[in-house]
Amino acid sequence: MSYREGAKKFYDLFGAKDDAPFYIELAHVYGDKALELGVGTARLAIQLAREGVETWGIDNSPHMLRAAERNVAEEPPEVRGLLHLEQADVRDFQLDETFGLVYFPSFSFDHILDRGEQLEALKAIKGHVAPGGVYAFELAHVPELTAEGGWFVQRKPLDESRLVVRTGYHSTDVERRIISVSLWYDVVEEGRIVERYYDGSDVYVHSVEGVRSLLDEAGFETLEWYGDLRKGVFTEESEMMVVLARPA
Ligand SMILES: C[S@@+](CC[C@H](N)C(=O)[O-])C[C@H]1O[C@@H](n2cnc3c(N)ncnc32)[C@H](O)[C@@H]1O
Repeated sequence: MSYREGAKKFYDLFGAKDDAPFYIELAHVYGDKALELGVGTARLAIQLAREGVETWGIDNSPHMLRAAERNVAEEPPEVRGLLHLEQADVRDFQLDETFGLVYFPSFSFDHILDRGEQLEALKAIKGHVAPGGVYAFELAHVPELTAEGGWFVQRKPLDESRLVVRTGYHSTDVERRIISVSLWYDVVEEGRIVERYYDGSDVYVHSVEGVRSLLDEAGFETLEWYGDLRKGVFTEESEMMVVLARPA
């Protein structure tokens, strides 16, 4: 296992969030057939399948897909039978299927850094939305991007005897709207580090105007623009933008 692949083991430990009800409700409204972009460990896709939604997931990381397959294998046959995972890149993919709901959760669209590639992705996504269907996604909303960088430390129990300490450093390139994040995961047992992994990535920080212009150029019309996953009103102070769009 590589230094970087190992970090994926802890992805869900620190990534817990209550986004399933929002996407499950949407999936039911739009025909119980959904495609998750950047499916990761299948954390969320499994929750949709448990509610009877036929759920497909694509990811370009073989490490993530391996973790997803391990998680799917633990589900009962009726849930497994509703899940389809494929290795594919959102910027250029073609499944011979369309979906009532295509969703890109967990701010993952921000992994695509280049505007041209963001547009390519949106065009590929548009081709997978079934007639009458929707594309839903969340992004971080940062009202004012500043050049501040900094360290943070988080810890979570792994089991009865071990703890995972995650140390992170982030820095911001304001002009390019890119935040670089480095993460070190230390597994600590009886006060000693017994394993250490690294993971790091760059993310693009979208502005409201930027997202509107991308959707417009890719041929989407916006249906809803919420400030959180409970369908709260979007304001300047909102920490996220949650958008529902459909092919225009
Ligand atoms: C923040 S994780 C979210 C995982 C999962 N959707 C969840 O909510 O738990 C982002 C995922 O997007 C995947 N990803 C990033 N860029 C991608 C791309 N261009 N095509 C497909 N998947 C991508 C990563 O490999 C990772 O698994």
